[in-house]
Amino acid sequence: MADLNLQEIHDTLISVAHEAGRMILSANPTDISTGTKLNSADIVTETDKAVEALVSTRLSAAYPTFSFIGEETYKPGVEVTSAPTFIVDPIDGTTNFVHGFPHACISLGFAVDRIPTVGVVYNPYLDQLYTGIRGQGAYLTQGAVWGLEGGKGRKSKLPLSKNPPPLKGLDTSLVGIEWGSTRDGPNYELKAEVFKKLCASKETGGTMVHSLRSLGSAALNLCAVAAGQYDLYWEGGCWAWDVCAAWAILAEAGGIMASGNPGDWNPPIDGRKYLAVRGAPSGQKEIVEEFWKVVGEGRMEYES
Ligand code: IPD
Ligand code: CA
Repeated sequence: MADLNLQEIHDTLISVAHEAGRMILSANPTDISTGTKLNSADIVTETDKAVEALVSTRLSAAYPTFSFIGEETYKPGVEVTSAPTFIVDPIDGTTNFVHGFPHACISLGFAVDRIPTVGVVYNPYLDQLYTGIRGQGAYLTQGAVWGLEGGKGRKSKLPLSKNPPPLKGLDTSLVGIEWGSTRDGPNYELKAEVFKKLCASKETGGTMVHSLRSLGSAALNLCAVAAGQYDLYWEGGCWAWDVCAAWAILAEAGGIMASGNPGDWNPPIDGRKYLAVRGAPSGQKEIVEEFWKVVGEGRMEYES
């Protein structure tokens, strides 16, 4: 790690993210040729593949000795090792992308020893760039490509509040969730049950959260936690490329990542079950425990 120039890697990732962002914006949603993977809700487009090819070409030219894992070229069984590895989702939020809903991003993560170390998440529709380098803080830069603030954009440290309030419990929380693309089976049943319990009134045995939100992109959901806009985000089924970049950002914003299944405070990068909590002066541990009680005896199970 000592001989890695994390700042240079971060700067390279930003330049690649901006280039990829131009490619995403140039695709007209109504003309996108859409294919599916596991089922009709698991969508992939030619743009996903073209962006990954661009990213992989750029990163392998700049860092030929580093490993690369990307969603569109991933082969089952390939594992995240301890080697320096770029972990990339060319478009996170593909469903939004094909519907023209402006919450899709490119998610460029860099892990060392399986720890998210540098993260760059860029939403080209809103020109929002989330960045983080391990030990050096996390930031949101808005409008740099649009030319705001003399072309530098408006750069804010994350979380956005200088004094994030304590976490008081689920009943005062805004919680990120996603339905995912699997719409039957035990994982789906558990998710639906947990969503219902989170929302239900206390009189009927629920926790009555302020509300649930889905941005349709795991990376952007995690960035919303890093920014302090969501209090928590609970997810099962997404992959290392959906979380690596934003996890590096979350950690630098004072957030924590526990497992989406009860009991594991140090989930692996490729564990596919996550519970992210925003930075706060107190209440992080307690709110994780409260959430795990809502999950109860249920467990999400996904193949690695
Ligand atoms: C999906 C999104 C979604 C999450 C899914 C992911 P994709 O990624 O991140 O929020 O719930 O598990 O697969 O397909 O848009 O890259
Ligand atoms: Ca994707």
